[in-house]
Amino acid sequence: MADLGVGIVGCGVISGIYLENMPSFAGIKAVACTDIIPERSEAKAKEHGIDAVTPAEMLKRDDVDIILNITPPLVHYDVSLAALQAGKHVFGEKPLCVEVEHGKRLVDEARSRGLAIGVAPDTFLGAGGRLARELIDQGIIGKVIAGSCNLMSHGMEHWHPDPRAFYVHGGGPLLDVGPYYMNALINLLGPVESVVGVTSTAFPTRHVTAEGPLKGQHIPVETPTTIMGMLHFASGADVNVFMSWDVWKHGHPAIELYGTEGTLRVPDPNFFGGSLQYSKGRDEWITVDASDRAFGRPNYRAAMWPAGQPSQANYRCLGIAELAASVTRGTPHRASGAMGSHSLEAMQSVIRSGRDGGRIALQSKIDRPASLPESEAALLWEGGWR
Ligand SMILES: NC(=O)c1ccc[n+]([C@@H]2O[C@H](COP(=O)([O-])OP(=O)(O)OC[C@H]3O[C@@H](n4cnc5c(N)ncnc54)[C@H](O)[C@@H]3O)[C@@H](O)[C@H]2O)c1
Repeated sequence: MADLGVGIVGCGVISGIYLENMPSFAGIKAVACTDIIPERSEAKAKEHGIDAVTPAEMLKRDDVDIILNITPPLVHYDVSLAALQAGKHVFGEKPLCVEVEHGKRLVDEARSRGLAIGVAPDTFLGAGGRLARELIDQGIIGKVIAGSCNLMSHGMEHWHPDPRAFYVHGGGPLLDVGPYYMNALINLLGPVESVVGVTSTAFPTRHVTAEGPLKGQHIPVETPTTIMGMLHFASGADVNVFMSWDVWKHGHPAIELYGTEGTLRVPDPNFFGGSLQYSKGRDEWITVDASDRAFGRPNYRAAMWPAGQPSQANYRCLGIAELAASVTRGTPHRASGAMGSHSLEAMQSVIRSGRDGGRIALQSKIDRPASLPESEAALLWEGGWR
């Protein structure tokens, strides 16, 4: 079966790792890229031996089967809708889009046209996510009754050259990094039923210190930067989600789940590998490393990471390869638009509850994605995982 052609829309920071990783994945092939700033797409095209085209030309190309939408969040809806209307499958970066209604519309549009729409984070399909799923499904900690997940830092303006999108409507820590935790939790526990939120904004402006044209400027903050959400899952589990860009340091693990028989520390869902820890009753922690599984081997260091910080598994493109394999086989894919739309509704409901008060019941109902067996995962790597 021929590879499905991928057209990249948006040639900013994250496009680098997608273009670097794509040749290693099975069933997909980058063919063209575009950006509203043509110099960016021309530079990426030259570096990776693909065509630089205009956004309109991209949608007309017969060799583009999948549009990879890696534009800023506020643009996701328009770019993805135009791609679907041009008859292309879509895989996008998180969040699916910003408005809940738009998320539903994208899912409906894809369904009515018989097209696939998928969205990152796809990290739950990585080695660490699959291992956690296996242990939960085996009942290693019994029935999950509660949990806690935490992502806290002091923002993005010290590393991203243009951090403005992080601090306006559609940004903030919950919509930006929350999707990693939401997808990890939905993969382990199933859909969310209702939420409660508390939100605040500690600083009215942020000082950009990252290298780039905005260095030294103070940018406005128009969205909550500390968000505490309580998620009630249809399974009965209650999980608190604490996401903040106002915290200098903390000591919480990324995700802990508390079951009737033990506790599980899930690997950091920002990456595809990692190790997890579980304990039975009051026994000692048992550590299980996912590095020897498909998409678990550490392969990546960010330039800004301090020397002591370990490398991580970064297999961005896994969700596109999984979508492509599903399209080819005619089976459902896992990092789906429906999951992204449900997660968006949960996150926006937490923010709305923080603003207006009260518990909010979610309208959307989804199924937990099927688990991804090791043998199937390995086939998503060109030539099989070795
Ligand atoms: N930067 C990261 O480390 C990172 C990590 C994970 C996910 N993401 C996600 O990836 C997406 C992009 O992030 P980024 O950091 O690369 O942003 P960025 O601002 O660096 O790049 C976005 C690019 O999209 C282009 N663009 C905007 N509107 C467009 C349009 N209508 N058509 C074509 N191009 C358009 C911009 O000119 C820009 O070059 C976001 O959804 C973000 O949440 C980023």
